[in-house]
Amino acid sequence: MTSEQQEVFEPPDEIVDKAWISDWQAAEAAAASDPVSYWAERAGELEWSKPWDKVLDDRKAPFFKWFTGAKTNIVTNAVDRHLKSARRNKLALIWVSEDNSKVRTFSYFSLNREVEQMANILKAMGVEKGDVVTIYLPRIPEIFFAMLACAKIGAIHSVVFAGYSAEALGTRIDDSESKVVITADGSWVNGKVFALKDIVDEAVKFSPTVENVIVVANTGTEVAMDTIRDHWYHELTRLPIAKGHCETVQVDAEDPLFILYTSGSTGKPKAILHTHGGYQVGTYTTLRYSFDIKPEDRWWCTADPGWVTGHSYLVYGPLLNGATVFMAEGSPTYPYPDINWQLIEYYGITGFYTAPTAIRTLMRFGDAWVTKHDLSSLRLLGSVGEPINPEAWRWFHRVVGQGHCPIIDTWWQTETGMFQITTVPAMPQKPGSAGRPVFGQQAAILDEAGNEVPDGTEGFLVLKNPWPAMMRTLFKDPDRYISTYWSKYPGLYLTGDAAKRDADGYIWVIGRTDDVIKVSGHRLGTAEVESALVSHPGVVEAAAIGLPHEIKGNAIHASVILANGQQPSRELEEELRTHVAETLSPIAKPDTFDFPEKLPKTRSGKIMRRVLRARALGQDEGDLSTLESD
Ligand code: WT7
Repeated sequence: MTSEQQEVFEPPDEIVDKAWISDWQAAEAAAASDPVSYWAERAGELEWSKPWDKVLDDRKAPFFKWFTGAKTNIVTNAVDRHLKSARRNKLALIWVSEDNSKVRTFSYFSLNREVEQMANILKAMGVEKGDVVTIYLPRIPEIFFAMLACAKIGAIHSVVFAGYSAEALGTRIDDSESKVVITADGSWVNGKVFALKDIVDEAVKFSPTVENVIVVANTGTEVAMDTIRDHWYHELTRLPIAKGHCETVQVDAEDPLFILYTSGSTGKPKAILHTHGGYQVGTYTTLRYSFDIKPEDRWWCTADPGWVTGHSYLVYGPLLNGATVFMAEGSPTYPYPDINWQLIEYYGITGFYTAPTAIRTLMRFGDAWVTKHDLSSLRLLGSVGEPINPEAWRWFHRVVGQGHCPIIDTWWQTETGMFQITTVPAMPQKPGSAGRPVFGQQAAILDEAGNEVPDGTEGFLVLKNPWPAMMRTLFKDPDRYISTYWSKYPGLYLTGDAAKRDADGYIWVIGRTDDVIKVSGHRLGTAEVESALVSHPGVVEAAAIGLPHEIKGNAIHASVILANGQQPSRELEEELRTHVAETLSPIAKPDTFDFPEKLPKTRSGKIMRRVLRARALGQDEGDLSTLESD
């Protein structure tokens, strides 16, 4: 181990003494001795209208089932159960607009009213249990209402990040066969309107399934409305169909709650499927223990609900714990570099969970932007999405956390639904290590042949035990579920990440081992970026790789073979960036380009990304003996 890896921060006593888990060794050992009972006990803290017959059914592994036979609904636990006590009047959600001029707040009581209203409208549009609804909304309260309304009536939500292009959105709408799309006229991005409704119009133009589009008025932008298909949300809410109580449908624990498309190693995004029962137990427990969530907390997770972090730890996890959720529409630096610190100070935020890329961006502005604010309400900080470099960790700890807030680094994936490697606040923190497998989980680091590697050696990170919030399958593609996650090492879940373990059992995640690039914590497949590039008429072939980037973690570098007659130029690079932004998403824009004569390939025709990376970094290209011969 290097000296950096020996750096350890012990949590302050006042945090440990008050935490749900103070004696973490005992809790870890108890869960390890009987993970299934551990999860059954956690599930017992939530409401089930019919108890389960079996906690874990592994007869058809790796198609694991949890809490089979039970009836429940995540909304029963995230909303309804809080209405039965004085908690009904506490704030469930505080929302602030991008320019910090508008604030909307909802108690649990009024959140329920909003969810009922949206659910009534969906029902009136013919949405039934098992139907998929696509949600393409910015970070505004209606995204909470929409997700919870779908869950309440047993429909499956498919949230698409409101920054994806019409093409990407259209593919996801069609693949999921959505009948309804919920969107807004626009979203605010750094003071400018991003025209969401126009993108939806383009995406559903040839959609065979979409019958209704609900449009939330957010930016006041003028949009085209199809008289039959499109409906303003505020007009729908005035109709009698929107009014009155809406019962939360009790579904099977294993009924689907949502699908969420994520990038993999091929061009086609994977639709990860999560279910009501296990997912609620997993997100409730992990947020509770790792971030020591208590009802009096004001919790701010900066993630967008378009990603899994937003699903699990902005919407569901905190509501399941009866906390107050804080959500801001804007970016971390708009309208000014201390907007986050101002909001933390004003709203008394106690837990702040964000991404390394945001921390690095804010660090650049200097300490004074932070220290001029009173951040004494903060108790715990969190990081997610990519490995956090120790320098950013220390700054976050020293300046934002004033030296006394533990930083909870959380390693997990869209597929895992909940944290897998993290710490609880009572554990010592090591900057750069995500921590230890969550209670009830075991991880291993394997070599190519499947043997565990010695401590300190890099290998493939796998998870050994099933866990309640695990994905159940890939929607409509069970074979790919097996081949992607369960084939390399049968019986073990392949994460796709490389990692090392140290002598204390802490795991140090290094990064992806497959064709996935994490750019500013966002997950992109090289194949998606390549097909976006190739759809430009001037491009014959393209290869995308990730290169280290100071702020983004990784940035995309594209090697592009141009069509005859095309010349490399700055203008062409800019045109290709715009093209990728429009056909995939602005987050997928390549930072840098090169325009070689041909791409290095193996004899079987596979692009040798290792060689491209070495070239782009000006390093030795290594062994080229498997290069395709002319
Ligand atoms: C991939 C999953 C689930 C949260 C959002 C990302 C990387 C995620 C960490 C972390 C090191 C991390 C991994 C993982 N990753 N969190 N704390 N430390 N790496 O979800 O988009 O499905 O991406 O993000 O490479 O496999 P996702």
